[in-house]
Order: sequence, then structure tokens, then C-alpha cells
Amino acid sequence: MAGGVTSAPPADPTVFRRLMGRWPTGVSVVTSRDGERDFGLTVNAFLSVSIAPPSVLVSLGHEADSTAVVARTGRFAVNLLGHEQRSHSERFARIATPEAKFQGVAIHRTPSGLAALDGAVAIFDTKVVKSLDTGDHTLFVGTVERMETGPETVPLLFVRGQYAESAGPDLLRLPKPRV
Ligand SMILES: Cc1cc2nc3c(=O)[nH]c(=O)nc-3n(C[C@H](O)[C@H](O)[C@H](O)COP(=O)(O)O)c2cc1C
Repeated sequence: MAGGVTSAPPADPTVFRRLMGRWPTGVSVVTSRDGERDFGLTVNAFLSVSIAPPSVLVSLGHEADSTAVVARTGRFAVNLLGHEQRSHSERFARIATPEAKFQGVAIHRTPSGLAALDGAVAIFDTKVVKSLDTGDHTLFVGTVERMETGPETVPLLFVRGQYAESAGPDLLRLPKPRV
């Protein structure tokens, strides 16, 4: 067999994380709202599920505060981040109160009232149509009710557990593998 070492089941979560890091993704902030409180977390487990009707999927960890809010309210918005919005990705990945996460962040509202980050390259306002608990995450499928087109800019890219750096207009430099 080419390329190497495999391990016996169950697969080692640390190795699994490292290998999944070889799969480059964009980065989003998923927002939800519980009464008057905005919630948001950084998410790269995001994909398009269906074109007609347009629907998307996000995978949210059971330990994230947002997960219970999305489950209870049945709504989430996905804000796709541009390359200049790395600080948003870092901020919304921190363990902090929802109020602290949003402090000083410029937002407007989606038609359903969720927080939409100014400058996001695209925003999908969704209604949950299906959810599935699996392992330590819940998968939420949301039908896209409204979309917003943001600036056409280089997307924020995450690979090898790090962010790609700008290397000039429309160019990104991949981070070196971590040893
Ligand atoms: C680049 C990146 C991608 C992430 N992707 C996910 C994800 O897809 N699902 C998830 O549950 N957490 C993900 N996280 C971790 C959450 O953003 C983090 O646990 C967050 O603090 C949870 O926020 P909350 O508890 O306020 O909801 C990611 C973090 C980073 C830095």
C-alpha cells in the first residue's frame, strides 16, 4: 500500500484531526438568536446540500452554546468570511459570552432578525428542516430563505490547522505543515 501507516480501529482522534486538516475549507461565522441575545461561532464544517431548494448543512459541536440555540429556535445564518476577516474567525472561536463576542463587531440584520456580519462575502439566512445528532456534533440542514451578496474578495481559507496568508492580489500562500 502506498503512503503509509494506518491504525487499528477506533481511529485516533488526534490523527484524524491532523489528516482532516489536509482538506482546505473556507471559514464562516454561524449566527443564531435566542430572544434578544445574539450567538455566533466560527464554523468550517459547512457545505451546500441541495440546489432546489437551496439548502446548506452545518455541523455544530454539542459543547458549543450556539448548538442548543439553533436546535431550539430552528434558525441559523451562515456568514462566509473574506480574507480580511480573520479576526472575526478568531473572535467567534473563543470561549466567551455571546455579548463579548459581538462587542464592537459591525452587524446588520437578516430579514429573519439574525446577526449578519458587515463585509461577509455571502450570507445565507436559513430555517432548519432536518437535524441529526451524531458523535459529539449535531448536523443541521437549513433551507436558504434569503441570501445576501457581499464584496467579491479573496475568501478566508483554513488548512493544516492554520489560515492561509495573503500573497498578493488574489493569491494565498498555504501554511507550512505543523511538525
Ligand atoms: C477555523 C475554525 C473552524 C471551526 N469549525 C467549527 C465547526 O465546524 N463546528 C463547531 O462546532 N465548532 C467549530 N469551531 C470551534 C467553535 O468556533 C468554538 O468552539 C466556539 O467557541 C463555540 O462557540 P459558542 O460556544 O459560543 O457557540 C471552529 C473553530 C475554528 C477556529
